[in-house]
Amino acid sequence: MRIRPRRLRRSDGIRRMARETRLSVDNLVAPLFVIDGEGIREEIPSMPGQFRFSPDQLEREVRELSSLGVPGVALFPAISEDLKDAVASESLNPDGLVPRAIRLVKHAAPDLLVIADVALDPYSSDGHDGIVRDGRILNDETLEVLAKIAVLHADAGADIIAPSDMMDGRVAALRDALDAAAFSHVALLSYTAKYASAFYGPFRDALDSAPRQRAGIPPDKKSYQMDPANVREAIRELMLDIEEGADIVMVKPAIPYLDVIFRLSEASAVPVAAYHVSGEYAMLSAAARNGWIGRQEAVMESLTAIRRAGASVILTYFAKEAAEWLAA
Ligand code: PBG
Repeated sequence: MRIRPRRLRRSDGIRRMARETRLSVDNLVAPLFVIDGEGIREEIPSMPGQFRFSPDQLEREVRELSSLGVPGVALFPAISEDLKDAVASESLNPDGLVPRAIRLVKHAAPDLLVIADVALDPYSSDGHDGIVRDGRILNDETLEVLAKIAVLHADAGADIIAPSDMMDGRVAALRDALDAAAFSHVALLSYTAKYASAFYGPFRDALDSAPRQRAGIPPDKKSYQMDPANVREAIRELMLDIEEGADIVMVKPAIPYLDVIFRLSEASAVPVAAYHVSGEYAMLSAAARNGWIGRQEAVMESLTAIRRAGASVILTYFAKEAAEWLAA
């Protein structure tokens, strides 16, 4: 036998030399949950190790992330029930939780990139990403609100706006609105292929944002988020997003959709992001807590796999831990 692949696996040195994929802290983005109040650092039961931070506590967290070299954070607001309504009015409050949180992060850690999510669900009494009327999620009416939110977030200092709503035409609508408001320098990270997934459960616990049972409309997001069975449709969404002006395209969830990440990275020349979502965090955490898998090994293997599939930006609740492990 002359050809022996094991020669390149013999020692750590030779494995390092032959390694094809490298995960770096530069690839990581930390999603963070914010809540109004003071001194709050509430652990989310279905996401042990993840918290809802009040603004003062958020400040400490982002300083820590920044000093670890994590390049960005994505902010998600837990809005109190009495501020939610059918048209998500609170999303347009210029002194609302997200605009305040953006300003605070940019003040506490100016170099940390702030990714501001745009969708109505945290503010919607129906728990939907769009406006609900007569048993339908209205597309074009929703775009007008999303565009206003995007400008509000850009005005507060967001570096990147990330529409996560899956309405048709939102990338173009947001690009036009941002450009018209002199925010042509603000980038769009589109949730290009966002699937109607069971893996968002813990996130919806964190924000109390699950779609509510309402007459005439099923409590799921299947009429706007993608069918998990489809991948060619992801290419269609990709073509639209590129045409409409997306700067970064994202696939979500990550591990069950590595083929989609790969296809998008082959088919486009923009950076591909992946969202390693709450349910993926919950599964790994639960198994590790039971001693059934090694936490660090399983997490680093997962993040490396996402990287290998073609993502250069990874939104993951493990960002801080992974940054610490990478620095060790
Ligand atoms: C909502 C939104 C969701 C997530 C990010 N933005 C949930 C949903 O679509 O219901 C999920 C993230 C996660 O599960 O970690 N626009």
